Amino acid sequence: MTIILIGYMGSGKSTIGLQLSRILKFDFVDLDAYIEKNEGKSIQELFKSKGEIYFRKIEYQYLQNVLEMENTVVSLGGGTPCYGKNMELITTTNHAKSVYLKASIPQLAERLENEKHDRPLIAHLKSKDELTEFIGKHLFERSMFYNKASITISVDKRSVNDVLENIVMELF
Ligand code: S3P
Repeated sequence: MTIILIGYMGSGKSTIGLQLSRILKFDFVDLDAYIEKNEGKSIQELFKSKGEIYFRKIEYQYLQNVLEMENTVVSLGGGTPCYGKNMELITTTNHAKSVYLKASIPQLAERLENEKHDRPLIAHLKSKDELTEFIGKHLFERSMFYNKASITISVDKRSVNDVLENIVMELF
């Protein structure tokens, strides 16, 4: 089985994914880190030098690679399920189960305020109000993709352990 974690930037996909892989004794792949390693460039550099459209193209190719892996927990980028046929590919991969880590707009704004600098889509937003407004609109557009996940787990105001327990309970 392969477990695919999806959710908005700042929802905890990488942290939860790594911990979940340890519990299950699965491999762990963070799609952003996997892309960075294979391309020899950071996500920021890729956006800057090649643009978002190029990034989405290679993101789709690398998604196909990671979906072939077995006994792996994969944390996707926040936008991965929302482009092209990506979410369809995820939901139709037989050995894959997708988990949407669902966080509220205020919680995401809180988490992303100090972590926006290395994220090209939000790095330019100046105030917390601007960030909150952006997340609100963006999440509204993206929710229809995230909501196609096999299971949805609320992460608001919950500890990592609590979320992990909840995922394991829902999956097995
Ligand atoms: C993106 C999210 C990022 C990264 C890229 C684009 C998005 O991943 O893939 O900056 O479109 O939401 P994280 O969700 O890990 O920040």
